[in-house]
Amino acid sequence: MFENQKIAFIGAGSMAGAIIGGLIKRELVTPDQITASEPRAERRAELTAAYGIQSVASNSEAAQGASVVVLAVKPQIAPNALPDLRGELNHDALLISIMAGATLETIEALTGHNRIVRSMPNTPAQVGVGMTAWTAGEAVSAEQRRQTEVILSALGEQLELPGETYIDMATAMNGSGPAYVFLFIEAFADAGVRMGLTRPQAELLAKQTVRGAAEYAYQSETTVSTLRHQVTSPGGTTAAAVAALEAHGLRTAIDQAVEAAFRQAQHLGKK
Ligand SMILES: NC(=O)c1ccc[n+]([C@@H]2O[C@H](COP(=O)([O-])OP(=O)(O)OC[C@H]3O[C@@H](n4cnc5c(N)ncnc54)[C@H](OP(=O)(O)O)[C@@H]3O)[C@@H](O)[C@H]2O)c1
Repeated sequence: MFENQKIAFIGAGSMAGAIIGGLIKRELVTPDQITASEPRAERRAELTAAYGIQSVASNSEAAQGASVVVLAVKPQIAPNALPDLRGELNHDALLISIMAGATLETIEALTGHNRIVRSMPNTPAQVGVGMTAWTAGEAVSAEQRRQTEVILSALGEQLELPGETYIDMATAMNGSGPAYVFLFIEAFADAGVRMGLTRPQAELLAKQTVRGAAEYAYQSETTVSTLRHQVTSPGGTTAAAVAALEAHGLRTAIDQAVEAAFRQAQHLGKK
């Protein structure tokens, strides 16, 4: 799919590193096809040593001749970094942005280029089990959509959505979602400590239970409701716990949290 093509990364921090590592590990591209731009010489040397890719200080040099350019700087750096690409991109190059909150319109205004995919990854991408939602601008071709699927799969799962409003919804789900789960694990472990378990015992029990339940739900062909019913015996311990969670408004709290994140994503997008 990427034969004889160059892939560039503008900004090569932790997320770009995760994509580069995933692409090379899965042999989707060879290291000599990748060029990354990065201001710090130390990080450039680190990238070359770790992956064998080319790393350069100049954003425009990295982007020249590339068929895919991944925009991986922090959103607040974008107004300084992205104008470096003006007039330097192949006319049919694909830009894939992983910058949280940066809209298609903003990226087009900064780069002067309109073949853009906007994506929203999440922090579990750092360990290869990320969830990335993305949407493509009108000028993106079918082949470039397939390339996007492959590149974003280097971070874990990916899902195409039909427009930027859906990216705001995804921001409230996969983007902010890890924090909801971390908060749950924290409260779950605290409850274990309150019963008398040590902190390490409680944290291991909480973390591995969440990890196992998520993996089981992911691999199972049945619904999550069915899985929950399977562990809820009549009159048993789980039924008592679930009743307490419902009485304290767990579903409403989650619904309101997701709604609040969605509204905030829309508000920040307008700014
Ligand atoms: N981390 C996540 O889990 C996550 C989740 C969702 C979305 N994202 C998005 O992913 C993007 C990258 O995040 P990250 O965590 O990988 O950040 P990061 O580790 O800070 O990487 C950004 C890189 O850009 C470099 N940089 C700074 N100024 C530059 C410039 N003018 N030109 C080129 N490169 C420049 C930085 O170099 P220095 O270190 O030398 O400044 C750094 O290596 C962000 O836009 C973020 O919103 C990240």
